[in-house]
Amino acid sequence: MGSVSLKIGDGTAKFRRSTVCSSAANILMIFSVITTNLFALYAFTSSTKHTTNILYQPNKNLSLISEQVTLILREIDLSQKKLVQMEKHLLGYESLDLSTPHIANELKLFLNRHHLPLGKDSKTGITEMVSSVGHSCEKSSDLLSKYMGYKAYGHCPDDWSVAQKLILRGCEPLPRRRCFAKTISKVGLQPFPISLWKPFVGGSINNNKSIVNWSGFSCKSFECLNGEKGCFGCFDLVNGYENLRFVKSRSKNDFVVDDVLALGSGGIRIGFDVVGGGSGSLAAVMAHRNVTVVTSTLDVDAPFSEFIAARGLFPLFISLDHRFPFYDNVFDLVRAAGSGLDGVGDKEERLEFFMFDIDRILRPGGLFWLDNLCCDNEEKKKVMTRLIERFGYKKLKWVVGEKVGDDASGKSVVLLSAVLQKPVRV
Ligand SMILES: *[C@@H]1O[C@H](CO)[C@@H](O)[C@H](O)[C@H]1NC(C)=O
Ligand SMILES: *[C@@H]1O[C@H](CO)[C@@H](O)[C@H](O)[C@H]1NC(C)=O
Ligand SMILES: *[C@@H]1O[C@H](CO)[C@@H](O)[C@H](O)[C@H]1NC(C)=O
Ligand SMILES: *[C@@H]1O[C@H](CO)[C@@H](O)[C@H](O)[C@H]1NC(C)=O
Repeated sequence: MGSVSLKIGDGTAKFRRSTVCSSAANILMIFSVITTNLFALYAFTSSTKHTTNILYQPNKNLSLISEQVTLILREIDLSQKKLVQMEKHLLGYESLDLSTPHIANELKLFLNRHHLPLGKDSKTGITEMVSSVGHSCEKSSDLLSKYMGYKAYGHCPDDWSVAQKLILRGCEPLPRRRCFAKTISKVGLQPFPISLWKPFVGGSINNNKSIVNWSGFSCKSFECLNGEKGCFGCFDLVNGYENLRFVKSRSKNDFVVDDVLALGSGGIRIGFDVVGGGSGSLAAVMAHRNVTVVTSTLDVDAPFSEFIAARGLFPLFISLDHRFPFYDNVFDLVRAAGSGLDGVGDKEERLEFFMFDIDRILRPGGLFWLDNLCCDNEEKKKVMTRLIERFGYKKLKWVVGEKVGDDASGKSVVLLSAVLQKPVRV
């Protein structure tokens, strides 16, 4: 359990202890299984004995036997509950071990259970409120304690990168904190809809002081970021291609939004740009067409969240592995861009969980826009196609193209773009 991160620093002792702990749990579990079986055996033999007694001693009555059986059943039930508890513990799904000395006090306070003021809720049966924190946080408990080691009511440390590191390690959701986040003055924000293409006064990307604290990024300006490979040119809304994306197509795999919206026959009002949303330009283009789009983003190597928000658009700070925080069947449109999907597609099951979650939030008749999915080989394309086809979507558009890959080898890659319509399932 969590052996990797726990080996660091003073965590060594804890690692050893947790091993001892889990072998103790193993022994306990075996013991418990044996006891349960012994009880069952006892129940079997003793009830046989009692049956004999009743047959030959009519003065003994049945209620005595049923009393014993009830006792035994209760014992078995208890053992089974204990087993489930141990199993949970072994799997690491129990919340963090708050008795460990180095756990930050603020974390303990946050995770304290609170009884409902009016007692048990009659509708749900819930008796207490539990603050949530991702179960994988246990694997990064040292980092988590660092994150929670702030001074209550004071200023939070400038540690957004610690927070993001935790999220990327699956520690999601993060606990809440009781400190004031660093403020950035955010001068020069423009009113909507001017903000969509001119997030700052003068539309100058040089004006970088106002909305971002660059500490923690290797680039210190948007100009610098525009030369970066990750989101090439995506922060330059004036020159270059960014302001033509989704409006003018560069290849048969680039669909323009008006074509996609037409496929939705006027029913597209809200959308989710789930992966590869970059600086939020799809949401901006859609905003001009009165369609509200939420862009999922993390600040990996660039201040995407700040930039998207400065455009007057909705950045959703969430990792790809997090269940989408939306109710079922709510979106008219979901777009996933291929470049971002690369990271998801290594393991087929991981991709399946991802696709099923997209399917869940998309309404029947809604559109799934797969944008330039990059398959470095024919086999991967086949796997993807098979997966997509399993969902039974109607293929409104399906374009397979090819382009020379980015790497030096000059090998060509297969590109798949599609607009698929979710069926009504009964
Ligand atoms: C049966 O046993 C119970 C408890 O052992 C006793 O209270 C009850 O009076 C008994 N009934 C008869 C009919 O013997
Ligand atoms: C950015 O963060 C650093 C580190 O916490 C801090 O020293 C600096 O003052 C911040 N800059 C601005 C403009 O807020
Ligand atoms: C803003 O960008 C300019 C270059 O465009 C750079 O020289 C300057 O250091 C940046 N300011 C901050 C606060 O990062
Ligand atoms: C968007 O909505 C506004 C206000 O209702 C309306 O004036 C405008 O024509 C709409 N634009 C489009 C592209 O539908």
